[in-house]
Amino acid sequence: MIAGQGFALGNKARAEGVRLIAFDELDSTNEEARRRVLEEGERGPLWVAATRQSRGRGRLGRDWISVPGNLHASLVVSDGVTPEHAPQLGFVAGVATIAALRDLRPGEAGFALKWPNDILLDRLKLGGVLLEGLALSSGDERLPAAGVVVIGVGVNCVAAPQGVPYPATALATLGAQAPSAEALFAALTDSFCETLKLWAAGSGFAEIRRRWLDAAAGVGERVHLRLAQGEEIEGRFETIDADGRLVIASGGAKRVIDAGDVLLAHRATSTPTG
Ligand code: BTN
Repeated sequence: MIAGQGFALGNKARAEGVRLIAFDELDSTNEEARRRVLEEGERGPLWVAATRQSRGRGRLGRDWISVPGNLHASLVVSDGVTPEHAPQLGFVAGVATIAALRDLRPGEAGFALKWPNDILLDRLKLGGVLLEGLALSSGDERLPAAGVVVIGVGVNCVAAPQGVPYPATALATLGAQAPSAEALFAALTDSFCETLKLWAAGSGFAEIRRRWLDAAAGVGERVHLRLAQGEEIEGRFETIDADGRLVIASGGAKRVIDAGDVLLAHRATSTPTG
């Protein structure tokens, strides 16, 4: 069902020819974006937004519980996207989301990023990014493979989901003036335009990395790390490398991690739950 009343692009995004299709309900905005890429030849820039998702997806095969009033939106982008540089877009998305949040709440110091793709408020999970790449054959093997990426952004605006294995929060905890999903969406579409320009098809990743680290929670701290294969390690979060991989010091050695979850110590009195 198409409607998704209330969602509108920001002025910059509109001026740059970004398009929007908004729905009252979808299975998943990432899935709808993917269908449009594969079945209709969509190449973006196109935002797909939905008030509700019945089958929202999270990272590492998890469900994303989609409470109405929260933000669920996905951007299809192909301009300058190569399979080699596409993974950097998760960091672009994090930097763009923090910029939009800070734009709407300039005095709020609690917004931060957590490797690889989490958005935090006061060290609790406020949102996340799900990056799904679709490699397309150009049909000509002499040409490099073209890439289309779907960047899904979920932000808890009105409510944090219940029953999730990590401590979560919502913008509503900021009080009556907390940004709505619609206000955040407009700001996000503009900040994505700016951040994608800065990224410049990968040639600007050093600056994206610098801004990401500037907004990152836990740098220099001891963290608990759950790797994608189930292994758990502890170490000191040193940095992210030039490719966005996590670098930690553990047991006297440095380890470079491609995928997993970082669990930060949560405030003085509690331990991470998952
Ligand atoms: C995570 O696990 O932290 C990533 C969550 C990403 C959720 C968003 S909501 C909009 C888009 N559609 C989906 O199905 N997932 C992403």
